[in-house]
Amino acid sequence: MATPHAPPAPEASPEDDLGAHRGAPVIVETHHLSRRFGDLVAVADVSLGVRRGEIFGVLGPNGAGKSTTIRMLCGILEPTSGGGTVVGFDLQREAEQIKLHIGYMTQRFSLYEDLTVEENLSFYAGIYGVARKRRAARINEVIEEAGLGDRRRQIAGTLSGGWKQRVALASATIHQPPLLFLDEPTAGVDPVSRRTFWSAIHALAASGTTILVTTHYMDEAERCHRLAFIFGGRVLDLGRPEQIVARRHLSAIELEVAEPELAARALRAQPEIEGVEPYGHRLRVIARGADPGDVVRRLGLTPAVPIERARVTVEDAFVSMVRGQDARDHGGPPAPAARSQGGRDRRDGHDGQVRP
Ligand SMILES: Nc1ncnc2c1ncn2[C@@H]1O[C@H](COP(=O)(O)OP(=O)(O)OP(=O)(O)O)[C@@H](O)[C@H]1O
Ligand SMILES: [Mg+2]
Repeated sequence: MATPHAPPAPEASPEDDLGAHRGAPVIVETHHLSRRFGDLVAVADVSLGVRRGEIFGVLGPNGAGKSTTIRMLCGILEPTSGGGTVVGFDLQREAEQIKLHIGYMTQRFSLYEDLTVEENLSFYAGIYGVARKRRAARINEVIEEAGLGDRRRQIAGTLSGGWKQRVALASATIHQPPLLFLDEPTAGVDPVSRRTFWSAIHALAASGTTILVTTHYMDEAERCHRLAFIFGGRVLDLGRPEQIVARRHLSAIELEVAEPELAARALRAQPEIEGVEPYGHRLRVIARGADPGDVVRRLGLTPAVPIERARVTVEDAFVSMVRGQDARDHGGPPAPAARSQGGRDRRDGHDGQVRP
């Protein structure tokens, strides 16, 4: 499994953050994993550890390096430097072994559009080395689990997006791998199907499958046990969703006023205000290190209905991190994120943890 003499990963969470997964075997471990494409650094110095049964989310804006990281972890793409182990095999030396012991759902589901559902499953069972005599039974099992019974003879190319996704997940798990990589598995899938999908993912994790998933849906990010937030190929933060949120020191309110556009403009000019987003008749106002209600009162804005406190979400934290990092990268004025960053914002020590 994990290399016993390897130094602890700098971005590793303290044991306490692992909850039920504390003490579980390390299934994915990387040390300074990096990948260049010519001059472009797509992934830089990614060090992380994922335990058995965890659902580990990788978040980041477009081009952050999520798919590149997954492709290295799957043994498909060679790292330029750094390395690690995946299901006990070395990334640099045992890539072929890794490929047989994982399931990988690519960003664009790689189904064969002109084959039926059943033929796709049969194809993947062959690729992943499911024993011939077990294949038929295993295909029936996943068809049953995924509710694909009525569609088993339908040509995959004619399925709707949500059904394709179910076939893709069934294909990636046909050999019951201990580790599953899911790259934006629910892009374009309706909310009901996404819920079904996430129930299936949690059931797999509960039975000991480890899952590493990327998503741009922030409600899904909140369903992960832990998250790594990457930007420009680097891990900016890592921890439980609620910790990632707490470390941003944000507060949110919902505000309804007679002239929302004017109010939004006035609020956005205030240094503590991180964001003002219209939601129907209301404004969602987010402040850093301050109560947005106080800013509203200071500006003399008159709420039409009492101000309501709102929950700060992973989406708020995501936007805050991206804007803060953009400002630092482009030499702009320090974003509020940079101003309030002290020991509590750093990940490199146990004292950096903010308990929910
Ligand atoms: N084979 C390649 N050759 C050259 N550049 C590449 C290659 N693959 C990825 N890149 C670049 O590496 C960077 C990271 O890409 P990657 O696909 O990992 O991002 P991502 O986080 O998955 O983004 P998205 O959310 O859009 O899927 C991008 O700048 C991309 O253009
Ligand atoms: Mg991607």
